[in-house]
Amino acid sequence: MAALGYTAPGLICVKLARKIVRARTHDPKIEVVKHPLVAASLAILRAKTTASADFRRALQEISVLLLGQASAGWETVPHQVETPLQSCMAEILARPLVLVPILRAGLGMLDGMLALLPQAAIGHIGVYRDEKTLRPATYFCRLPGTISEAQVVLVDPMLATGNSACQAATLLKSSGATRIQFICLVACPPGVRQLHSQHPDIDIITAAIDPELNDSGYIVPGLGDAGDRYFGTG
Ligand code: URA
Repeated sequence: MAALGYTAPGLICVKLARKIVRARTHDPKIEVVKHPLVAASLAILRAKTTASADFRRALQEISVLLLGQASAGWETVPHQVETPLQSCMAEILARPLVLVPILRAGLGMLDGMLALLPQAAIGHIGVYRDEKTLRPATYFCRLPGTISEAQVVLVDPMLATGNSACQAATLLKSSGATRIQFICLVACPPGVRQLHSQHPDIDIITAAIDPELNDSGYIVPGLGDAGDRYFGTG
């Protein structure tokens, strides 16, 4: 058709329909953030010799970098401001922000993120992993009232089995959240599959995808128990 310099109206309709279907179908996405500072912080976090104080600092630093990447596609709206010289158009974030750490290890990522987004509201979801079944059980859920309009960032350092993240995402959605991203440090294929099979609309932003889970549900090579290392309870 193109060779004839002519596109049949029917073909235009088919092309348009394909475009609309693509626009409506959310491709589940996992973004592995490739940045030298992310890599350097992750190396500190992985090393078993890293002391708690350094682990905490590296976790805060990497969390800021991951959030910076996750926020790159957030919607903005035009906003007029007065500079000291004249008025000009600027842009501000279109939605309120809600950060939701999954207790307890997710708390370790919160401090760094709040330095970048001090205006964010904070929700908390407490999910513990039953060590026998490796299934999640919710023991705490407190979410801000703005959750349904908000850009929600769910955080947990490790996406291991994916069960806790799935449970937390289900709680967020049942409270009205529709725009959810999940940020972690290290993911593994079973966790990614599990989260995307139940919540295909949630984008995952991570510093690494490690190859496997061991029989105790730990990511290998991973970095060990993130909560224990952050809180010094190992
Ligand atoms: N939780 C952790 O803290 N580490 C893992 O490797 C898996 C789950």
